[in-house]
Amino acid sequence: MALIPVPRQASNIDKAIHVSGYRKTSPSDLIDLAIESRIARILKRSAIGGDDPFFVADLGQIIRQHRRWHQNMPGIRPFYAVKCNCDPTFLKVLADLGTGFDCASIEEMRAVLNLGVDPSRILFANPCKAPAAVAFAREVGVLRTTFDNIDELDTIKAHMPDAQLLLRIYANDEGAFICLGEKFGAHLDTTEELLARAWELGLNVVGVSFHVGTGATNPASFCNAIKDARVVFLQAERLGFHPKILDIGGGYQDNCFESMAPVIRDAIRAEFPNGTTVVAEPGRFYARSVYTLVCRVISRRRQLGSAAASGIPDMLYQNDGIYGNFMNVIMEKEIMEPHLLKVKKSKTGILGNHRTNEISEKGNERIKSTEHRYSIWGPTCDSTDCVVREVTLESEVKIGDWFKYRDMGGEYYQRLPSCFPLTILSLHEYHCHSIQWLQP
Ligand SMILES: Cc1ncc(COP(=O)(O)O)c(C=O)c1O
Repeated sequence: MALIPVPRQASNIDKAIHVSGYRKTSPSDLIDLAIESRIARILKRSAIGGDDPFFVADLGQIIRQHRRWHQNMPGIRPFYAVKCNCDPTFLKVLADLGTGFDCASIEEMRAVLNLGVDPSRILFANPCKAPAAVAFAREVGVLRTTFDNIDELDTIKAHMPDAQLLLRIYANDEGAFICLGEKFGAHLDTTEELLARAWELGLNVVGVSFHVGTGATNPASFCNAIKDARVVFLQAERLGFHPKILDIGGGYQDNCFESMAPVIRDAIRAEFPNGTTVVAEPGRFYARSVYTLVCRVISRRRQLGSAAASGIPDMLYQNDGIYGNFMNVIMEKEIMEPHLLKVKKSKTGILGNHRTNEISEKGNERIKSTEHRYSIWGPTCDSTDCVVREVTLESEVKIGDWFKYRDMGGEYYQRLPSCFPLTILSLHEYHCHSIQWLQP
């Protein structure tokens, strides 16, 4: 009993089995059930098991995040940043929820348009675009785009003279993992000249955008950017433009969203009159917590000799690493948290899994101790391919064991299409859980 339609466009799905009866099961337990089922299938297919990591996507989490967005940012329409995660099933849920889409390339625009989304719901939020991409956008009817330099205005004049332009201004949160200000954004001492050139070319500037950086923690960075945006609105109005749109970009983090949102709202209220349309481009906020990744231990090196004597942790090698779904370890210095899954045969033949600290059976051949220290590495022959430098687990890990990594939906470089996510839908709010096994 699905509560939202299974996306027709998700062509990787040829079979959907709907299982109900999970009313009292929490979303995280449902994810574990889905993992358990997938592992059972993998092991059934072959005694050695498959070699691929897999994702579980909880579509109910998208809906919970969307509700959270609207509770904390009322009236601010999200344009989901497609670059963050372009899984078609995920995009389809957002399309059904009515969000807009921030696209940065032809491929991203195609992915969204293929879902039947109207081009007016797309913002081409890349201030430095290839002429071919600008021409493509115009051809498909995507007219709202950003700029932050003089040459871009010439490209836009040539290929999209009827564009609705947002001037992207410089903004920076010093504490962000990725400071986009180094690459994009016009400084305040250049905005007047840029606006004047746009006016001279007969282009239409409809608003201002900024992005304070991914993983922002300081609400003052938003306040400063909002104040700067107000200055640029006034500059534009003096030239004769009628700016109406303020785009407050992305950078929203799960763990400080509720504390940052009221500060951002107050800053907008203080600087901008009623009648300004305020939009945002959240990426990770929507995608990160939806996906759980499961990897398998393919090899192990127990330290011997002097390495053992000096306490170097044993080494585990898993079937995914920084060249796959863990690129954020390098790009964003993200610390990964592995959860060891214990898989055993139950009487019914169904596999059960447990977090390490829940294991207590007698006769379990694994030794329970607090002293199992490991480093975890990816499958390549590259020595930079290290996923976890050091972790202490409560039990021993062997070849064939599985690790679960939560919050893996914001991997900008992920290769989701190559490991189709198993999709479940958990919705407490409807006092009902649906679980769908969507099989590649
Ligand atoms: C223009 C733009 N908008 C939105 C985002 C999404 O940012 P986040 O995932 O931090 O919300 C990005 C990320 O790079 C971006 O470049």
